[in-house]
Amino acid sequence: MRVFLTGATGFIGSLLVPELINAGHHVVGLSRSDAGAEALKRAGAEVFRGDVNDLDRLRIAAEAAEGVIHAAFNHDFSNLQQHSEDDRKVIETLGEVQAGSDRPLVITSGTGLVRSKTGGTAVETDDHVTSAEFPRAATEEAADILIAKGRHVMVMRLPQVHNTRRQGRITQHIQLARQRGRVAYVGEGKNRLPAVHVSDAVRLYRIALEKGQPGAHYHAVGEEGVALRDIAEVIGAGMRLPVESITQEGAPAYFGGLAPLVTIDLAASSALTRERLGWKPTGPDLLTDLRNMDYSAA
Ligand SMILES: NC(=O)c1ccc[n+]([C@@H]2O[C@H](COP(=O)([O-])OP(=O)(O)OC[C@H]3O[C@@H](n4cnc5c(N)ncnc54)[C@H](OP(=O)(O)O)[C@@H]3O)[C@@H](O)[C@H]2O)c1
Repeated sequence: MRVFLTGATGFIGSLLVPELINAGHHVVGLSRSDAGAEALKRAGAEVFRGDVNDLDRLRIAAEAAEGVIHAAFNHDFSNLQQHSEDDRKVIETLGEVQAGSDRPLVITSGTGLVRSKTGGTAVETDDHVTSAEFPRAATEEAADILIAKGRHVMVMRLPQVHNTRRQGRITQHIQLARQRGRVAYVGEGKNRLPAVHVSDAVRLYRIALEKGQPGAHYHAVGEEGVALRDIAEVIGAGMRLPVESITQEGAPAYFGGLAPLVTIDLAASSALTRERLGWKPTGPDLLTDLRNMDYSAA
């Protein structure tokens, strides 16, 4: 399949390129930089130069593709609302191109946007929060509209994606620990973060593209939840720093803007995804990757 991939130069995209090529797909990767274009060429992909928010260019690339995976996102969280609304427009545009065809479109979201009906572990069929509650949900809302129109759209919800170099939000925990000279968690630290090794995440994208069901929401969850206390202890051992419990009231002083996230439980399940797509995560777990990482480089 000729696959147009946005975010092809990012953490996940750069590993999704070989996953797709090795399975026999022709990858056209979006890049807005010379360095990104060179990396894509080296990986064996065709390069499409452009900014994802240049919707005319985006349309050209999507029209020439037999399938699209959208994994680009601007992670400058100081302007999350704008970037989320930009993402809504990108998805609307990809959906317009898709009209009248059965070409699959895989959109990227996060398990953190899902609100569990039971107040426990979030499942694929749970609703997402609204963009009024959290701006990033604009992505899910844009996908909902395309799905309601019967388009071949699938939503890939990611938990914390990791290897020994990148762990998204946990990288911020490591940076805070370095600044504060200690590693903190709140209360008993039993609240959890779901996770997946990046190799498992990219395999699930490929399977979803190849045989996903229109309208499906997939959870790329390898581990339903890793307790924040366990994460703090592994980071503390790796950085040779003391680990301590702090109170909820003390969380903003230590965690700053991350404080609202360190007190909630974000556990998410992938049982339906595994059953429907036959996906079985096999990569290292989060704590293993955290034990094996080089903290001097983090
Ligand atoms: N990593 C995680 O743990 C995680 C968890 C939940 C959800 N997600 C979602 O998964 C997707 C991929 O995440 P990631 O970790 O791979 O992110 P990343 O490493 O930050 O990569 C982002 C990608 O988006 C591209 N991009 C951003 N703005 C662009 C623009 N204006 N025009 C063209 N390309 C642009 C970047 O291109 P450049 O190389 O040019 O910067 C890069 O290829 C995102 O939607 C993210 O929100 C990730």
